[in-house]
Amino acid sequence: MLVNLRDITAMAEQRGMAVAAFNVPSLEAARAALDAAERTGLPVIIQHAECHEGIVPLDVMGPVMVALAERSRAPVCVHLDHCEHLDYMRRALEMGFTGAMFDGSALSYERNVELSARAAAMCAPFGCGLECELGSMGSREGDVVDGEDAEGRAEAVYTDPHDAGDFVRRTGLDALACSFGTVHGLYKGEPRLSFGVLEQVRENAPVPLVMHGGSGVSDEDYRRAIRAGIRKINYYTYGAKFAGEAATEAVRVREGERRPVYWHDLTMAAYERLLEDAMGVMRVFAGEGAPADGESQGAVCEED
Ligand code: 13P
Repeated sequence: MLVNLRDITAMAEQRGMAVAAFNVPSLEAARAALDAAERTGLPVIIQHAECHEGIVPLDVMGPVMVALAERSRAPVCVHLDHCEHLDYMRRALEMGFTGAMFDGSALSYERNVELSARAAAMCAPFGCGLECELGSMGSREGDVVDGEDAEGRAEAVYTDPHDAGDFVRRTGLDALACSFGTVHGLYKGEPRLSFGVLEQVRENAPVPLVMHGGSGVSDEDYRRAIRAGIRKINYYTYGAKFAGEAATEAVRVREGERRPVYWHDLTMAAYERLLEDAMGVMRVFAGEGAPADGESQGAVCEED
């Protein structure tokens, strides 16, 4: 069933957990995320990033995402990720997206406030929840970074907790993306996260917080971030890498057996690996909020 960003993050807040938000630039990725939600009995967010337009266009993937979410037994939010153009956001809203992120992190503070508030006004009549970003991670999905700053990209700027209250009040956002040491893409070293930033932001702006660059982080750091108020974790690169490795292995096995390699051999191997990975991280993000094994199939996340 389709739910909006406000309701799904409220569900996470009530259970003291974070909802996994998977970027799904292929049918296999979307199916894996939704099947993982049904199998674990947990809510999920599937999202399309504006920068993935070249992998699959919004016009193609958006209606598929909405249709699959509507018929899912799990609570699903269909979300627009890292949108920098309000006309692009309007197209997603008209398709039935129930969450959207306006990313003004490359703009000045005042311009970020102004455009985020315009995004909020645009989302309201559609009943769509809005996420905005304060601070900057300095990198995008697919980048390789060394844990401190992304080569060739702008340097990361941590979210300023003193601005957070003002930003939330003036924009009318529903969820706040924070920069606190995670990065998009592959980590070359251990991520060093600043949980103090999150704690101070939560003190000044008690709204659901969002972790970007969520793949490649240790389970312990996920748990600490969730305790500090993270309610949505964006997860893409490492799952995509594992699926790529599974598809490569499928080719190797079939070639070793001197059998032809069909395209569906690769998509099936990728789907299975994405599903396994998604179920694993969703259970970590849910912590105590995860239904016990055996309760998950079928009975999906009734409200407490
Ligand atoms: P990763 O690709 O680093 O997991 O980050 C995903 C993300 O933050 C999407 O907005």
